[in-house]
Amino acid sequence: MQVKSELLRALIDSGDKYLSGTALADKLNVSRNAVWKAVRSLEADGYIIDSVTAKGYRLSKDNNHLSPEIISANLSTRSLGRELLVFDEIDSTNLKAKELSSQGALHGLTIVADRQTQGRGRLGRSFVSPAEKGLYMSVLLRPDFKLEDVGMITSRAACAVAEAVESVAGCDVQIKWVNDIYLGGRKICGILTEASFNMEMKALDMVVVGIGINIRSTGDCFDDELRRRATSIEDETGIKADRNKLCARVLNNLEMYLSNIESRAFLDEYRRRELLTGHIITANVGGSEIIGKAIGIDQNANLIIEMADGQIKHLGSGEANLCRLADTAYEQ
Ligand code: BTN
Repeated sequence: MQVKSELLRALIDSGDKYLSGTALADKLNVSRNAVWKAVRSLEADGYIIDSVTAKGYRLSKDNNHLSPEIISANLSTRSLGRELLVFDEIDSTNLKAKELSSQGALHGLTIVADRQTQGRGRLGRSFVSPAEKGLYMSVLLRPDFKLEDVGMITSRAACAVAEAVESVAGCDVQIKWVNDIYLGGRKICGILTEASFNMEMKALDMVVVGIGINIRSTGDCFDDELRRRATSIEDETGIKADRNKLCARVLNNLEMYLSNIESRAFLDEYRRRELLTGHIITANVGGSEIIGKAIGIDQNANLIIEMADGQIKHLGSGEANLCRLADTAYEQ
């Protein structure tokens, strides 16, 4: 067991470079046969390892196995992801984070899963979460924020994810208010933030930020209806992004975006990517549908909507979409 974990550490540290069987045997102080057995054992766990005669071993660029060791090796955070649980299968990473929160888990606990059987979306929807295709993660926060700042955790998370995806996909993404990430006109990521309030302390007890990113080609996993609305990084760019590195980047960025909660500077990044601004949209306000023009994002990350009669509304929560009826409905 120890040989295996030391071998994994050595392969992670060597990055793209091959390590020969002899060099590894010397480093780990074991026989070459023991190295070979440990390589086979890592492969049996799901790691993809390039093994080339006269060169040795390295972790393959195609490795798609979710690994707490690889995620941790790429973290630069103080607290987010420092306690990290990775599951092959789980009902929902948000549910697990909330369960562990009620048992006293600390700020920064991160749950990651290869597959969710009950992935949860906003507004009671489900989030399709097939194995090996996406990154499904939840981060537990125990913030000492003022309540007025809490509402912006999700918008900050959207910026953190947008930047992480851009760095691996090599192209710009957009944020659709409140917190969907879009690539090539379709959704690649959703964020579900859940919180609990301690009435006695009159303070926020915990926040769980759940992030689902479609990474690998979704193939038959999405039905026709979902495929019209959603896509993946690979389907749009051809890039097979490394889920472990992307997970670490999301955590690194999220910690940075949450570090100065009173500052609204992140809103520039949010506004620069926001997709609805400048378009006619429909939105659900208090159960009824409104049509207006999205004209921007205010200082509290609310969507600013100009109605046909000139009235201005600031939408704090809910959902808004591009108006499929084009400009006509708005003009009437
Ligand atoms: C949405 O688009 O409606 C939000 C989707 C959020 C999905 C993520 S996947 C990880 C975490 N666990 C869940 O059950 N949901 C969130």
